[in-house]
Amino acid sequence: MYKIFVNPKDLTLYVDENKSLLECLTENDLYIKSSCGGHANCTDCVIKIQDGTDNVNEPTFAETQLLGNVFHITKERLACQCFVKGEITVDISNHDKASDEQRRQNKSKKVSSSIRLRKKSEVDEIINERKEKALKKRESRDEATWEKHWEKDPSSRPKKLGGGMRPKKIKEIPEYSDKKEDQE
Ligand code: FES
Repeated sequence: MYKIFVNPKDLTLYVDENKSLLECLTENDLYIKSSCGGHANCTDCVIKIQDGTDNVNEPTFAETQLLGNVFHITKERLACQCFVKGEITVDISNHDKASDEQRRQNKSKKVSSSIRLRKKSEVDEIINERKEKALKKRESRDEATWEKHWEKDPSSRPKKLGGGMRPKKIKEIPEYSDKKEDQE
């Protein structure tokens, strides 16, 4: 068991070296935000080791993938990946349950206010309006279009260009064939 000081709560706890800091803190009724359940996926459980940085395990591979290799500069660790092996002071000031809940409520309020339920009659009206618009658009396009204009006026039918035919066989030139025989 190792002694840890928790700031800004001014608490002293004794934690088990085989348990992660996240487990130890939550077991002692301290709120640490976590969405992945301690599987090093969310980075919500970030805490700061204020003192005793040598008394915690080296950052795990999963942790460095998320936070980068900057622990010695930022002193930030994922609580779920951090195991204590000596006395430390930890700062959990960015984990405030009340403000997190408030933020969550605001989010759900925003979503619910942005969803507007329409009555069936309103929906039908909108559908009819759209259909009318589409019909008008199609009609105007039919008048203006130049596509297949020969169907409207057969005299303006485009000429056939004679494509897709086999090339004619080239006739042999008599003079040329005589010269060829002389050479042989
Ligand atoms: S709890 Fe999600 S990364 Fe630690």
